Parts: sequence; structure tokens; C-alpha cells
Amino acid sequence: MNGRTDQPLRLGVNIDHVATLRNARGGSDPDPARAARLAQQAGADGITLHLREDRRHILDADLSAVIDAVTLPINLEMAATQEMQRIALSHRPHAVCLVPERREERTTEGGLEVAGDDNRLREYITPLRDAGARVSLFIAPDEAQVEAAARVGAQVVELHVGAYAEHCAAGDDAARNAELRRLFAAAALADALGLEVHAGHGLNFDNVGPIAAIPEVVELNIGHFLIGEAVFIGLDAAIREMRRKMLLARM
Ligand code: PXP
Repeated sequence: MNGRTDQPLRLGVNIDHVATLRNARGGSDPDPARAARLAQQAGADGITLHLREDRRHILDADLSAVIDAVTLPINLEMAATQEMQRIALSHRPHAVCLVPERREERTTEGGLEVAGDDNRLREYITPLRDAGARVSLFIAPDEAQVEAAARVGAQVVELHVGAYAEHCAAGDDAARNAELRRLFAAAALADALGLEVHAGHGLNFDNVGPIAAIPEVVELNIGHFLIGEAVFIGLDAAIREMRRKMLLARM
């Protein structure tokens, strides 16, 4: 494997924060399923949504509505709990991305601790894979986590780029470059172990380029920035501009 820049880079649009906005007021507006349809029209390659245990943004009914609203592959982010496994097995999304979840966090703060939880995760993943889902693990760009992801039978790793995004925002070039080196190394290792490589968290127009340029990365999942930017320029324009920047970086 290796040297994947010839592979197209997909954009998964995470629509969670359309639901966050709706839930702030209650009622039905803005509608996440409508956002998913619009994202499809704007050229998204997939729709990502995170059904959290506390249902703070996407609700169970949204999952069904979004699945019905688009023909794109659905990537369901969820904690590795029995309840979420049941939901995934009944809705059969194209992909399931297992993420760590802490109730007090504002967003998914760290990567999944795969190393050390091998047996439980292997058992957890098997029925999902048997049902046809591509199973992804959201992990820090850490060698031990990548190796553990391969051991437990995941087909995909999504590299957490949140630390990189924070260093970019702080203007700390040395820390940003060090984190980029970790991301390049983790992506190369994952690819060498036969894992498909995705990346996400905290990406925006300014910081997406270097991540899109990692040759083994074939999918980015982006949410908060796109939904925020939609307030100013519209969701369609935000998605098209993000795709343009991804493409430019890939060349
Ligand atoms: N990928 C995963 C696994 C996530 O948990 C999140 C945040 O929900 C994202 C991507 C998207 O992050 P952001 O909303 O910061 O673009």
C-alpha cells in the first residue's frame, strides 16, 4: 500500500450541530435531515452523525430521518455501549465509528483507548462487521493505538486531529509541526497494517490543507466549522469551498 494521493479524498459532513441549534429552542427547526439532503447536493461524499448517550444533539428519530433523506453512505459515530450496538445493528449504517464519550465533555476530546481494551473491543466489533458495517476507531495518532486497532479487527482508523487544530489556532508552529509529524507517521503505519485512514476534529478552511495532504488519508469528517460557516455563507457554499481546499491540498 502507501502513496495514496492518487486516491480521491472524501468529505463526510457531520450534521450534529444542526441538531444542537434545533435543540436549543426545541421544535423542529433547523432540520438535520434537510441539512443532510443539502450536503448531498453540495457534493458531500457521506453524512456523519454522532448519536450520543445523552442525546444532546442528534436524536434517535434523526438517525432514521437522515438515512431516509439521502442516498449517501452514513457514518454513525457512537460510544461502544450495548445500547448503541443494538441501534447500529437495527439501522445498518454503512460505517460505524467508535468514539470515547464522557458526559461532561463539550465535544469528543480524546481518542479511544484501544490498547488495553483489546478483548472487549474485538468482541464488540465482530457483530457490527458481520452485519456489513465498516468499523472505524477514532484514535490519537499514536503507534500503540494504531497497532491495537489493527489487532481488534477494525477496518478503518480515524485520526484525531484536534491537538493539531488547537496548535494551529494558538499559532504555535513548533507544536503544530510536531503533531503533523505524528499524524503522518500514524497514517503511514495504519496503511501499512492494512487499515483505511480517515481524519477529523476541529478542521476548518485554514487548517485543512496539511491534513488533506497526508497521502494515506482518504476521508475527512468535518462538522462544527461547516455548520457555523453556513450561518454566514450558506451550507452549500461552505461545503463547496471546503472541497475546493481539500482538492488543492491533494494536488
Ligand atoms: N470525527 C469524529 C470521530 C468526531 O467525534 C467529530 C466530532 O463529533 C468529528 C469528526 C467532527 O469534528 P468537528 O465537528 O470539530 O468538525
